[in-house]
Amino acid sequence: MSDTTNDIKHVASPLARQTLLDGSLTRPVAGGRPIRLLPWLQVVKIGGRAIMDRGAEAILPIVDELRRLLPEHRMLILTGAGIRARHLYGVGLDLGLPVGSLAPLAASEAGQNGHILASLLAPEGVSYVEHPTIANQLAIHLAAARAVVGSAFPPYHHHEFPGSRIPSHRADVGAFLLADALGAAGLTIVEDVDGVYTTDPKGADAASAKFLPETSAAELASHTGTLPFDRVLVEVMANARHLERVQIVNGLVPGRLTAALRGEHVGTIVKTGAKPV
Ligand SMILES: Nc1ncnc2c1ncn2[C@@H]1O[C@H](COP(=O)(O)OP(=O)(O)OP(=O)(O)O)[C@@H](O)[C@H]1O
Ligand SMILES: [Mg+2]
Repeated sequence: MSDTTNDIKHVASPLARQTLLDGSLTRPVAGGRPIRLLPWLQVVKIGGRAIMDRGAEAILPIVDELRRLLPEHRMLILTGAGIRARHLYGVGLDLGLPVGSLAPLAASEAGQNGHILASLLAPEGVSYVEHPTIANQLAIHLAAARAVVGSAFPPYHHHEFPGSRIPSHRADVGAFLLADALGAAGLTIVEDVDGVYTTDPKGADAASAKFLPETSAAELASHTGTLPFDRVLVEVMANARHLERVQIVNGLVPGRLTAALRGEHVGTIVKTGAKPV
């Protein structure tokens, strides 16, 4: 056998001779901070239930605000699922469908909300793009238009974790994973409440709900009550690589989204686990 064959067999790689299961061995190679792919991008997640389900009354003012933001920011606008996904979950659970079958059904409902928003912003050159386009061609789309719209759901399908019968990785987690992976400038989550409270401000204990202008993934890890975003987001935020904060704002109050994108503190700022550079 010739030496050339041996050279080809032993491709030089810093991880070639070790298990990937030992953090102390992989850290010197894999422990660095990833590059920011789209550092100028602003990701905006629009609530399915909080905004889209309310129809024209809530959607038109937000569309107007997004339209005015276009000259200032390049945006990835992601929509959550709403009432139709709840109905889908109800029917699917009744039929015994596994969580991995329910996830894409809800994701497609989030996509329907995205199509609605994109149609309203179409005169400004904004269009709806599917997951594979977000994964592979976002940069070219954002070179052609100031913003694109997509479904905020992550494409887990049958890869969804089996812990809960309702998909645990929903719109907020999907929006955060994308924003952090792209190294975006920011993520703003648009709700129908001013931000995070100690307890649901529309729930049974509303009278005792206190507004939290600032909190962190670490603090929320021990919060046992409900949150205005996916529970799993708390864990995901703790392991963020780029996004150091997320702001939750009230999309029913005109101007809040605009102010948030301009860097103003107008809702709840949640600090993640990402270390400042
Ligand atoms: N601790 C909390 N602080 C603030 N709001 C809370 C809290 N707990 C529950 N909520 C409720 O969460 C609601 C928002 O619901 P949800 O997050 O399901 O809507 P959404 O973001 O529009 O949904 P989707 O993620 O499908 O887009 C708020 O209207 C509020 O009543
Ligand atoms: Mg929410």
